[in-house]
Amino acid sequence: MAEAANDNSYLYRAASLEDTAYLAQRLASLLEPGSVLGLDGDLGAGKTAFSQALARALGVRDLVNSPTFTIIKEYEGAQLPFYHMDVYRLSLEEADELGLDDYFYGSGVTLIEWASLIEDILPPERLHIHIAYEESGRSFRLHPIGEPYSAWCRQLKENGVLT
Ligand SMILES: Nc1ncnc2c1ncn2[C@@H]1O[C@H](COP(=O)(O)OP(=O)(O)O)[C@@H](O)[C@H]1O
Ligand SMILES: [Mg+2]
Repeated sequence: MAEAANDNSYLYRAASLEDTAYLAQRLASLLEPGSVLGLDGDLGAGKTAFSQALARALGVRDLVNSPTFTIIKEYEGAQLPFYHMDVYRLSLEEADELGLDDYFYGSGVTLIEWASLIEDILPPERLHIHIAYEESGRSFRLHPIGEPYSAWCRQLKENGVLT
């Protein structure tokens, strides 16, 4: 408890893909136009699995694949567009030239896999999620930067979703 207060981060443990989907659902209900989520974690950590669960929770009906080669894919959700990025193969300069601000400050929700690679050009306020592989499943460490992300995390902690 003191731990979370000190570094302003929150923990979620997922023992299964269903648990990953549950976190995605809880977050999806808070998302709004211009929300930005940055994902990090080793290959195989579960970034794309979380992205797919978030897309489903947003009512995206198309199949969501890893956009490693396409870099950006846009989907139509039930209420909000969903912009799914994987910047693993991009240099910071290339990412900068793509003009990602049109997405970040657009009318949809942006999720970036390998977000820390382009940290310098991300919006100042965002929710950063670090996923780690564990023997018992996956751990999600949430780092809110600015409002409303901090408020979301506090609320999810009050509701017992995060610790
Ligand atoms: N919470 C989880 N529990 C069990 N398996 C998971 C979980 N999250 C992801 N996986 C599995 O781990 C593998 C790698 O996941 P993926 O999302 O492709 O990782 P990444 O995009 O981080 O490289 C997939 O087979 C996926 O189904
Ligand atoms: Mg992936």
